[in-house]
Amino acid sequence: MASSQFFLCLDVVLGGTAAIAQGEHSQCQDNPPDMSLRGGEAGGVVDDLPGGFRAYVTGASSSRAIVLASDVFGFEAPLLRKIADKAGEAGYFVVVPDFFNGDYLNSSEHLTEWLKIHSPVKAAKDAKPLFVALKKEGKSIGVGGYCWGGKFCVEMAKTNDVKVVSMSHPYSVVADDMKEVKRPVEILGAQNDSNTPPKLVYQFVNVLRKRAEIPYYAKVFPGVSHGFACRYNITDPFAVKTAQQALALMIDWFDKYLK
Ligand SMILES: *[C@@H]1O[C@H](CO)[C@@H](O)[C@H](O)[C@H]1NC(C)=O
Ligand SMILES: *[C@@H]1O[C@H](CO)[C@@H](O)[C@H](O)[C@H]1NC(C)=O
Ligand SMILES: *[C@@H]1O[C@H](CO)[C@@H](O)[C@H](O)[C@H]1NC(C)=O
Repeated sequence: MASSQFFLCLDVVLGGTAAIAQGEHSQCQDNPPDMSLRGGEAGGVVDDLPGGFRAYVTGASSSRAIVLASDVFGFEAPLLRKIADKAGEAGYFVVVPDFFNGDYLNSSEHLTEWLKIHSPVKAAKDAKPLFVALKKEGKSIGVGGYCWGGKFCVEMAKTNDVKVVSMSHPYSVVADDMKEVKRPVEILGAQNDSNTPPKLVYQFVNVLRKRAEIPYYAKVFPGVSHGFACRYNITDPFAVKTAQQALALMIDWFDKYLK
């Protein structure tokens, strides 16, 4: 079936990057958002979503909803909000919750310490009221996630609360996660990603390939690093183009499976 495709550019070097050791600098902390890019947002922040969530809300009043799960830098990142607005222009109701209550990772913190407080696995459980409320409003829900949000996505894909997920450069997703997902999964990786190197994307695909009932799509983008889809350099045309391609693939994936 056409939905079960795996594209991997042949010039991608496999297996070059070792898993990150605890306490070592992580690519998750590279290229923090440039807050000066703020402005021109189509949506706005609401404080009172079910479950007590604050969120950036944008897009169409549609029965098709996308919940975007941020990277460690949180829901204020201007380029993430731009992605949300673009998904909104494509006809979706889009919610970007502040899963960290404003406590974003900062440069003086260790990722592993911060993750003890902000586990994506726990966050997915805690987000249940939000998904229940959206479903009650008659919405079918897709989840898109970046880095930290990639793990959030995969946890949601193990539930019946979502219809489809798309993750870009996920953090801490493991091959065994793919044994448990119940929904169509899209994985957008980067050639230079020490969290989810191409080799690991291959492992995801090897699991999914054996599960004929779960549609999947995976692609590893050459020439980019972890963070490429939502923390790109806006003056680098190649980086911009690659991020646009990732966004287009996410929207295509939702168009296909979010009815
Ligand atoms: C890979 O990413 C690291 C940052 O984590 C960067 O220092 C390095 O230059 C990148 N390599 C390539 C080939 O892009
Ligand atoms: C970084 O986060 C810690 C823990 O939340 C906080 O105490 C500290 O003030 C923050 N530092 C900066 C520079 O924001
Ligand atoms: C962004 O891209 C431009 C153009 O390629 C380059 O000159 C600049 O150094 C890049 N900035 C960063 C922070 O990498």
